[in-house]
Amino acid sequence: MCGIIGYVGGRKASEILYKGIRTLEYRGYDSVGMAIDTQKGIEVRKDKGSVDEVAAAMQFTSMDGSVGVSHSRWATHGVPCKENAHPHTDCTGKIAIVHNGVIENYQELGEALAKKGHKFSSETDSEIFAHMVEDEKKQGKDTFHAFLASLNKLKGSFAIALLAEGERRIYAARKNSPLVIGLGKGENFAASDMTAMLEHTKDFVPLGEMECAVLEPGGVKFYSLLDGKELKKTPMHVDWSPEMAEKGGYAHFMLKEIYDQKHFVYESLATDVSAANALISKSRDIHITACGTSYHAALMFKYLSSKYLGKTCDAVIASEYPFIASPDKDTLVIAISQSGETADTMKALEFAKEKGAKILALTNVVGSSITRVADEVVYLNSGPEVSVAATKTFTSQLAVVYKLLFPGNDFSEIPKIIADSLQKEVEIKKIAEMIKGKQDVFFIGRGLSVPIAMEGALKLKEISYIHAEAYPGGELKHGPLSLITEGVPVIALAPSDDSVYKMLGNIREVRARGGFVISLNNSSEIEKESNVSIKLSSVDPMLHPFAMVVPLQLLAYYVSVARGINPDRPRNLAKSVTVE
Ligand code: M6R
Repeated sequence: MCGIIGYVGGRKASEILYKGIRTLEYRGYDSVGMAIDTQKGIEVRKDKGSVDEVAAAMQFTSMDGSVGVSHSRWATHGVPCKENAHPHTDCTGKIAIVHNGVIENYQELGEALAKKGHKFSSETDSEIFAHMVEDEKKQGKDTFHAFLASLNKLKGSFAIALLAEGERRIYAARKNSPLVIGLGKGENFAASDMTAMLEHTKDFVPLGEMECAVLEPGGVKFYSLLDGKELKKTPMHVDWSPEMAEKGGYAHFMLKEIYDQKHFVYESLATDVSAANALISKSRDIHITACGTSYHAALMFKYLSSKYLGKTCDAVIASEYPFIASPDKDTLVIAISQSGETADTMKALEFAKEKGAKILALTNVVGSSITRVADEVVYLNSGPEVSVAATKTFTSQLAVVYKLLFPGNDFSEIPKIIADSLQKEVEIKKIAEMIKGKQDVFFIGRGLSVPIAMEGALKLKEISYIHAEAYPGGELKHGPLSLITEGVPVIALAPSDDSVYKMLGNIREVRARGGFVISLNNSSEIEKESNVSIKLSSVDPMLHPFAMVVPLQLLAYYVSVARGINPDRPRNLAKSVTVE
């Protein structure tokens, strides 16, 4: 869940790495560091704090040299502090490494190294790797073979970049953690994702599982980690522009990305899903698996399929999938993942694949891990999403889900529905002021509104730290109603569909207990019963989810800002969750 970038070329590495690691800060933001091979040897500067704070305090860009690595950390082993920040070095200081992932056997490996006299200066699992390479080199191997031999001893997951003093090279490798090689002219890059390199190149090779690369200014060579054989790779060209990953005048990436939805949903609706449709119609059973926000898109698939097509399918949280699902060769597993790197989703797919199931992946990231295990891929085409909170990729996932389920329908109304919902920004800001001081917020809905209520609650809790739960309206009386007392906010998703009168009943139940109802509706009856009402445009009931999700995203955003939180970087979370 950390961000990694490496550079080798003719320019000042520290400047390139600083810009790159700022782009990757969404992946981890508790500490930052940089190592540059300078004329005086490898210099490492690092500390706890944000990229800008640490870069300024440590004067990253005053380091001279044209090869280096940088890292932004999301702690897994050891608290965030200077010692635990990456890069880590070996005993001699001639090898520096940055790592993303979890080395599961680090204790065992560390004990063996300690017996040989190696001294460690951090509590991390990562540091041992620098010492392992040092140890292999002592036995007479060159850096490449020492790197390879050390990698083959690791259990767990890694994306690693290594710098060795005096060599104008970066050694990079991956297993279960993303690492992409960027190909430039007279310079090359390695980074956790493409956005960090877009300013310099649009030609990329995502490293495959158990592969490594040696980057020099004049070229990159790829190898299999298993046998050290050289691999031929075909670069892919990506059309994203650096501006697409910039804030473009908005206060936060999240707000920009909420606004981006009205444009990017066009792209998602234009995605060709014919091959995926063929897979869907051939399969006997469909399982949809995903985590977090993507799981809510999976639930929408399930609800829409059973409501409108009479076809039942299972939506399963990816981390639960291996424990409760029984896929076989006639099962199609649809995996939804914005990043395409989520470890829980990857594990679910590994399990499904072993059982002979076919895999259809819905992802936003070209060449991501999920695309390599899938039989068919549909790209969301939402452009890079930087904020930890998923927004535009969710509406893109929904757009693709609708296209997959209803190939003949015309969904050209969706961008306008989103644009209309964005007009509610000012009134939503006022509602955010009403709930910013509350301890609990409940979301209720029925039918297609349930996954959207769940998404609204997830968004609010993740970036405002207010406890938020979602329930089907009918479930209130089975327990949660005891929590509704004077002034407790209940956000009722009550559009005019076949559940509207039941929702009216639920709203009355809440009001009778003193609850404060904020409803999303397009009927005067619901409006009359609510304390506050957000009016939705009158659209085909099937499309209400698009109209409702945008106000809920804006609400979460403004509550977060009103509470003085940076919505782009909620505590304890990371954009791409590459650990199980
Ligand atoms: O990249 P993925 O879609 O697989 O990520 C899954 C979840 O980690 C993600 O949707 C998470 O719940 C969001 N940050 C919530 O806003």
